[in-house]
Amino acid sequence: MSHMVDLVIFGGTGDLSTRKLLPALFLLHRHQLADRLHRIIATGRGEMNTDGFREEARENLQRFLPEDRWDESVWATFRDRLFYQQLDAAMEAHYQALGGLLDEGEAPGRLYYLATLPSLYGAICHHLQGAGLVNSKSRVVLEKPLGHDLDSCREINEQVAQVFEEDATFRIDHYLGKETVQNLIAVRFGNPLFSPQWRNTFIDNVQITVAEDIGVEGRGGYYAKTGALRDMVQNHVLQVLSIVAMEPPASLRPADIRDEKMKVLRALEPMTSANVKEHTVRGRYAAGAVNGQAVKGFLEEAGYQDADATETFVALKATINNWRWAGVPFYLRTGKRLSRRYSEIVIEYKKLPFSLFANDPNELINKLVIRLQPEENICLHTLNKRPGLTRGLRLQPVELHLTDESQNKGDRYDAYERLLLDAINGDQTLFMRRDEVEIAWRWTDSIIDAWDETGTPVKNYNSGTMGPNSATALVAVDGRSWYE
Ligand code: BG6
Repeated sequence: MSHMVDLVIFGGTGDLSTRKLLPALFLLHRHQLADRLHRIIATGRGEMNTDGFREEARENLQRFLPEDRWDESVWATFRDRLFYQQLDAAMEAHYQALGGLLDEGEAPGRLYYLATLPSLYGAICHHLQGAGLVNSKSRVVLEKPLGHDLDSCREINEQVAQVFEEDATFRIDHYLGKETVQNLIAVRFGNPLFSPQWRNTFIDNVQITVAEDIGVEGRGGYYAKTGALRDMVQNHVLQVLSIVAMEPPASLRPADIRDEKMKVLRALEPMTSANVKEHTVRGRYAAGAVNGQAVKGFLEEAGYQDADATETFVALKATINNWRWAGVPFYLRTGKRLSRRYSEIVIEYKKLPFSLFANDPNELINKLVIRLQPEENICLHTLNKRPGLTRGLRLQPVELHLTDESQNKGDRYDAYERLLLDAINGDQTLFMRRDEVEIAWRWTDSIIDAWDETGTPVKNYNSGTMGPNSATALVAVDGRSWYE
């Protein structure tokens, strides 16, 4: 029992817990990886008992788990781990009751997962401490978004820091748990083939696309106040960018990796009112068709009629001012209701200085394409001779796949599964340090401020396309195009 941990989820009946956390915990249990996890205590404002919660959890798991992962015999043992505690974040007495439940379990370790409104994080930590529920074996996981700008983020971090040390604070960004993001570290730093070329001498531009086909899906007005820049770029896209761009770390220890990521974020050139129109595009989906289905526009969806200042798409040209990346644009884009769901990083190599061939290889530039989802793979697009007896040596594109394809068929691990396991085991490598999150806000704040100052409009795009035309123009003015 001495190494066991009880997990307490605040917002335990909410959207994130239902769709992501409980399915990931079920899978950890199924994969027999949850050996240090003792009980899972979901808290919520609703009145319910543990049996009621278990019933609900069972239905939700059947709905949200990947089709072939539900298993009655796994559920039979998983269900015994689930408990429910009614808790209103502001009610001290409720924390006493939580304490009683925790004492019954006798697990010395406690992992508090805050998956509720970030404005409540400070109060929750304060009350946990007040009720004597925080000790040297307690940790806290903080879900995004941590605030809505740098000031509010600092305030939350400050409040949490009064209760939890930094090494007990796990700021989650589930993109860091995705297999290919970690594979990127392996490919970059494990191969003498790639590491010397990973710089402006050889690389022309980098593109990061996080495209979703879903819309805002309700989400209780959260999105209306947030928008794509805060919801996706401030965290997921910038985390991926910092791993693509970082210097080799001194070791794979969390502090060393985070130090290098931090330097990249610090080197991002802030946007200003002078360049924001040239370097950013804001979009909002209008009605259209996605995957053959007619869909409504964002402003027609319930709860979003007045959200005409909210973007559901953003494209950016980011500049990293350091020796490695000077002169290499990082084109970033993310949006909802795009033509399909995929996330990828494209490293586009420079053109040859001179062509010897009968066809122009510059149209067939070398690229390294790192696909995060839906498939997980890495592919090097390179060139060789087109076979045959035709006059003149002609080039043709060939693809070198650097991924073991069986990986896409077998039992894939979900990002939350990996990150929950790391948090249970106390490994902070794939979590964000306080200064990283704050510096990422500093950069996104520069964009928001410049948008406000210049009144940068939100342009409509039809659902089912890849965003407004101006996103194509953002890259085309540099003589480049998005890799589709
Ligand atoms: C979340 C955002 O962090 O990430 C959502 O709040 C978004 O708006 C989701 O849909 C995307 O995650 P994934 O793993 O499905 O790409």
